[in-house]
Amino acid sequence: MIQQTLLDELMTLVEPGKVLTDPASLETYGRDWTKHYPPAPSAIVFPKTVEQVQAIVRWANAHTIALVPSGGRTGLSAAAVAANGEVVVAFDYMNQILDFNGTDRTVVCQPGVITEQLQNFAEGKGLYYPVDFASAGSSQIGGNIGTNAGGIKVIRYGMTRNWVAGLKVVTGKGDVLELNKDLLKNATGYDLRHLFIGAEGTLGFIVEATMRLERQPNNLTAMVLGTPDFNSIMPVLHAFQNKMDLTAFEFFSDQGLDKLLARGDIPAPFETRTPFYALLEFEATTETRAEQALATFEHCVEQGWVIDGVMSQSETQLRNLWRLREDLSETIAPFTPYKNDLSVTVSKVPAFLADIDAIVTTNYPDFEVIWYGHIGDGNLHLNILKPENLSKDTFFAKCANVNKWVFETVERYNGSISAEHGVGMTKRDYLTYSRSEAEIAYMKAIKAVFDPNGIMNPGKIFH
Ligand code: MLT
Ligand code: ZN
Repeated sequence: MIQQTLLDELMTLVEPGKVLTDPASLETYGRDWTKHYPPAPSAIVFPKTVEQVQAIVRWANAHTIALVPSGGRTGLSAAAVAANGEVVVAFDYMNQILDFNGTDRTVVCQPGVITEQLQNFAEGKGLYYPVDFASAGSSQIGGNIGTNAGGIKVIRYGMTRNWVAGLKVVTGKGDVLELNKDLLKNATGYDLRHLFIGAEGTLGFIVEATMRLERQPNNLTAMVLGTPDFNSIMPVLHAFQNKMDLTAFEFFSDQGLDKLLARGDIPAPFETRTPFYALLEFEATTETRAEQALATFEHCVEQGWVIDGVMSQSETQLRNLWRLREDLSETIAPFTPYKNDLSVTVSKVPAFLADIDAIVTTNYPDFEVIWYGHIGDGNLHLNILKPENLSKDTFFAKCANVNKWVFETVERYNGSISAEHGVGMTKRDYLTYSRSEAEIAYMKAIKAVFDPNGIMNPGKIFH
């Protein structure tokens, strides 16, 4: 824990009352959505300006104090967890949209702007911010950039990285850098902006971001299709992709649907129950487009890939169909899930799925497994639910034993051990399954340039 004299010095760097050390704040701001590590920060500091962030970084360097950047804390890899007496730097008071440019279609955001705030702002301007996920109501733009957040529209719009036009950062050394100056074309050497995207706060703080906007989608329409097995999902994807551009292609298992329906507030998509479901979305710009989708659906039924299905006819139906996928994470959260977030290239999904399924069935015979994910991106979320009679620690330890088999399979398929949740602390011991030793050495060398004293989110991504 940090000495009181140093905390007194920290208090002089920000506005009165903007350093908190009460137990409730330490508990709240010291953790993210993971339940693996008990939070134990020394203090929470709330800067309001770039200069204050800079002052905090200089103070931390002078006294070698570890800083943990904190956004909406909706992460699932413990990248925003302060478990070792760190000072948490929270951006709740740097939450303004500073500027909008209709010609460039860009918005300048402070890091604490909530994702949904940006989405609503864009809508107000007749435009669209396309990065979307269930936690959009509380996740912050700074955190989205720090983790290169993905979500449910990646198949059409890509990850957060694609939408960052420019960044202002305070490096771990305390320098302010303006990266890329919002340019579309800029061939002037290394693009340092991209190093900060997905760096999980290990290089410095994002203190301002210019985000790009897109035209609004037209008459979004969703279909939920029930499939007889895992193997039928990918042919359905290909059948639709041959005919139209999809804005989403998700999947979930019947065990997941069971949990959702038990809530009592989400309607079933249709009466038939099938082992898996695909949720796809497209812009029904014309009648012909919708007819094309229905014809493709019928083709999938004829091929035996789809047993039953439904297409949304209204905004309400669209929203309800999306809830079947989007509400899964929150619905299973009370079961303390052990989460895996794997990806391979789309062409490898069928074989990869079969191998992982075999590992799961052999090694977790007594555990309930809930599959869902962004299968159109090759991204699978494997959730193992904790049986009531096991303690959290015993359960996580049992799951970790099986990681070796899962991650060896990921490595064999040249996949990723973390497609979108990040490495943080939960996946750092497994990084070598996805990144070579040489690559990790380069990553560490890059960190040393931006953060020579190792004050920026130490212990995240690697030890
Ligand atoms: C999702 O796809 O629902 C999110 O990544 C959260 C999760 O995996 O639980
Ligand atoms: Zn996801």
